[in-house]
Amino acid sequence: MSQAAMKTETITVRPNASGFGAEVTGLDISQPLPPATLAAVKQAWADHAVVWFPDQPLTHDQLEAFTLQIGPFGHDPFIAPMEGRPHILELRREPDEKARNFGAGWHSDWSFQEEPPAATLLHSKVTPPVGGDTLYADCTRAYDALSDVMKRMLDGLVAIHSAALPYGTKGLFAQEQAQQNDRTMKIIVSEEADKTFPHPLVRVHPVTGRKALYVSPTYTLGIEGMTRAESAAILGFLYAHMTKDEFVYRHKWRENMLTMWDNRCTLHFADGGYDGHLRVMHRTTVAGDRPR
Ligand code: SIN
Repeated sequence: MSQAAMKTETITVRPNASGFGAEVTGLDISQPLPPATLAAVKQAWADHAVVWFPDQPLTHDQLEAFTLQIGPFGHDPFIAPMEGRPHILELRREPDEKARNFGAGWHSDWSFQEEPPAATLLHSKVTPPVGGDTLYADCTRAYDALSDVMKRMLDGLVAIHSAALPYGTKGLFAQEQAQQNDRTMKIIVSEEADKTFPHPLVRVHPVTGRKALYVSPTYTLGIEGMTRAESAAILGFLYAHMTKDEFVYRHKWRENMLTMWDNRCTLHFADGGYDGHLRVMHRTTVAGDRPR
């Protein structure tokens, strides 16, 4: 499907050919948006799930203010925020850092929370000359592409989410810290991360009403009521399906770009490939509701 750029009264929205992901220009997000512009931005986000705003230098105050126009801040656990900025995380990797880049596994942000964030906003401060892309998977089209029989089977299932694999007491970051593998970002390993929370495996988007697959290899431990082998078979199939090329958009960053994605219907993956170069991003989240 080819998608034409659409100029509303206020902004220009240029979607990818698939309709998943769109560039939004013709506005200055460092200033409070007029109501019609904000409504057009929210519509573009609902239509395309991942939207990016190039050439938008933002101070911390401006990033916070833009985030709050989308909705109230989410709660970000397990990562120490920037000093004096409890709602901004700095995703920073130094040129000589050896630890695996942060976010290098498919996930939807904080899906182990009772009310996971609706949106994540990521602002690029320093981008490396190579690598450092972010991949996004369209969990709505991935669901739509399944057979009716498969959809019926998945529709009633409940998946168990947890932060244990990365942030738990036996998780990846705990192991990394035990090996004294230094990382610039301050990760907080915690027993809190070992808790689990159930969510529907297929969730209905509260704005678009569309169904999307809601599982990820980073935060989903299994499917309620199934054996480990049954869960692994179904989840393994779904992860391979959701991350097929046809559902994935590879996002290339430029400095001073703000990208906002919808955690309710996408997964993302931070690609590496920039060893020897600095990458600095500032991230906020917008609170969401309980998946249904
Ligand atoms: C993340 O939020 O998972 C990181 C994304 C990125 O750094 O590209």
